[in-house]
Amino acid sequence: MKSGTPVQINEISENCVLKEEILKALKEQNRFLSGQELCEKFQVSRTAIWKVINQLKEEGYEIESVSRKGYRLKSHGDLMNQFELDSTLNGHWAGKTVKYFEVTDSTNTQVKRYAEEGAPHGFLAVAEEQTAGKGRRGREWFSPKGGNLYFSLLLRPNMPPEHASALTLVMALSVVQAMRKIGCHDASIKWPNDIVLNGKKVCGILTEMSAEMDFIHYVVIGVGINVGVEQFQDDIKAMAISLSEATGKGIRRVDLLAVIMERFEENYALYESTEDFSKLKETYEQYLLNKDVAVKVLEPKGEYIGIARGINSQGELLVEKEDGRVVQVYAGEVSVRGVYGYV
Ligand code: BTN
Repeated sequence: MKSGTPVQINEISENCVLKEEILKALKEQNRFLSGQELCEKFQVSRTAIWKVINQLKEEGYEIESVSRKGYRLKSHGDLMNQFELDSTLNGHWAGKTVKYFEVTDSTNTQVKRYAEEGAPHGFLAVAEEQTAGKGRRGREWFSPKGGNLYFSLLLRPNMPPEHASALTLVMALSVVQAMRKIGCHDASIKWPNDIVLNGKKVCGILTEMSAEMDFIHYVVIGVGINVGVEQFQDDIKAMAISLSEATGKGIRRVDLLAVIMERFEENYALYESTEDFSKLKETYEQYLLNKDVAVKVLEPKGEYIGIARGINSQGELLVEKEDGRVVQVYAGEVSVRGVYGYV
């Protein structure tokens, strides 16, 4: 190794720290900070400050520079990067360790790789773009860059595998609560875990588990939310919608993600306390689009129509058949649709 190398590495990491500190100061103060003030605060030269400000501008931060006044952060828009995630996610464990990918194959696959290497409960992977996004039943999840949210959360539940089946509903509930909190008041759940706005799908959830007969190694819950991208592939166009299209508002993805993690921590604690969905069932049903609505249940053996009456403490859908019998529908085996279409 050349003798100069360690110095360069130090310089790079010092520059990153300085950049993060300056960004933090600009965010916290929300006023003009003069070059002099920044130099004194961080004990660096004016040139160093100027270089960092330019780097931040190149990364997409809108920074106003006015002579004799200094620098002010005008907006941090919808930027998603490692720093924004680290500084915005403030939960106790969900997303406490977060890894950002500009592009990756699939965040579920990434989290599995990290899980095998010993990543902790609550580890989160977030991507701007996925090249091999996975949907349920082996389908592809269209994951273009430019404004959507793709993330996967690692869980290491201390419970038997059969008790983990409704964890995917815990995430659906958390997503719908977060969407409503940021102003998407019509967001609802289509059982078990699609989130729907204006009758169209805005979010899908894919849960995968690595387990033995009586022991869970880990669970990965992957969530794809159409936030800002309004173009869809032809085959999903008719049933997909984005949050921006539905609300006409710009949504900051990291803020939405932070609220989802916050809600998930609360909901997970309730789930964990009973190892089932009993404490969450009532809240979930408030958002359940297909409650007391006619549904078509598509089973491998055939299909039937009934009225969805809610869920049980395992998260199974209770469907009342024409003869009055109520059957429990397990999510793994079937699809549930509206009688005339997707919902
Ligand atoms: C569905 O089919 O409705 C489930 C879609 C799940 C997509 C998300 S995007 C983030 C995570 N990574 C993946 O590859 N899939 C999930």
